[in-house]
Amino acid sequence: MTTRAPATSAPATRAPATSAADLVHQRVVGHSLDAPFYVSEEFLALDIAAVFARSWIFVAAEAELPEPGDYVTVTIGPYSVILVRDDEEDVRAFHNVCRHRGARLLHEPHGSVGNIVCGYHHWTYGVDGTLLHAESQSPDFDPTCFGLRTVHVRTLAGLVFVSLAARPPADFDEVADRVEPYLAPHNLRRAKVARQIDLVEEANWKLTMENNRECYHCAGHPELQRCYFPLYNFTADEVPPALRATYERFLAADADARATYESLGLPYETIEELDTRPTGFRVQREPLDLAGESFTTDGRVAVRRLLADFPTARLGHLGLHTQPNAWFHLASDHAVTFAVLPLAPDRTLVRTTWLVHADAVEGVDYDPDTLTRVWNTTNEQDAVLVARAQRGISSPAYLPGPYSPTESQVEDFVNWYITRLKEHLEG
Ligand code: FES
Ligand SMILES: [Fe+2]
Repeated sequence: MTTRAPATSAPATRAPATSAADLVHQRVVGHSLDAPFYVSEEFLALDIAAVFARSWIFVAAEAELPEPGDYVTVTIGPYSVILVRDDEEDVRAFHNVCRHRGARLLHEPHGSVGNIVCGYHHWTYGVDGTLLHAESQSPDFDPTCFGLRTVHVRTLAGLVFVSLAARPPADFDEVADRVEPYLAPHNLRRAKVARQIDLVEEANWKLTMENNRECYHCAGHPELQRCYFPLYNFTADEVPPALRATYERFLAADADARATYESLGLPYETIEELDTRPTGFRVQREPLDLAGESFTTDGRVAVRRLLADFPTARLGHLGLHTQPNAWFHLASDHAVTFAVLPLAPDRTLVRTTWLVHADAVEGVDYDPDTLTRVWNTTNEQDAVLVARAQRGISSPAYLPGPYSPTESQVEDFVNWYITRLKEHLEG
């Protein structure tokens, strides 16, 4: 590990301009990134090219498009992607670009179509992407050559990932095979969307992700901390005095939870491969505090109708992290998905979606405010924190600082990211 000289009290100024490639190769392990990674247009473009256009990106839950013809449009940097459920009920993905003269086809964030009709000269495509109708063409016009351009798409236990790459990372299917047994019992393919909230954070997308990958700051989340054990990555020796009582509670809850998982055949052991593969991930099942059932202020379920026929609601939560842009929390009664998409060097969309059983009835089985309170409040608190980080990093006085041991997943994220940039820059 390279060590960085201690910070000095001398006036700190940023070093003279260095190329993006140099900054990537000079990155100091265990420290936050240099400022241009977070503030420059050049790095945003590099991030789109090296990360968002090459990796598997989580974009939606299948529940967002339950019926044939239902669609969602997703903006990934300069790309717009249509997700649509076809007549065979499979999820397809296409570039949102007409094959005639390039007009954007669908403009709404979501909706339902019979066919996809361009608003310019009315070329008409089926939901399988085939060109069905193009008026007044010459006799030798071959419509089969002008179907919509496809985008690679995979569904994983009800979660939809796309890759804009010509050759997407080949390890997705292996990751899916290992993660699916954890997710499948929660039945997300049979879920519906109870709420979706888009939050625009005034920060670089990597600050949003870094912030998600540690709980060093979790004292800033009093609502979350009531039900969630904020013991990220601490070994027994490292637990700080202020968290000692919480840790003792965690140990008892963890023993109970493991017994429950064993009896129900639910996989629970942690798999952590965050920076050792292109489709980095981490999955873990662990207890929750208080009643141990869900992400609510008393730890009890927010939805009376559980996601599946679990014999108990007290399953804690299943946490899944996927690089580069998502995390998920699944409890017995609901699941929450988080998708992070860059909008500008200092603006990031965080799309949070709450999923409940398809037959759960709002106002009868759940109250949306109770359902969304903990994570919505937590998101808003995080937005304040990452905006503060962005403002500080934008000062010429900013110098990268060291991650603590409890921030090891932040280092994993940054290491994964730097590896992708190096691969891209080295062609
Ligand atoms: S650009 Fe779409 S039909 Fe002409
Ligand atoms: Fe947070």
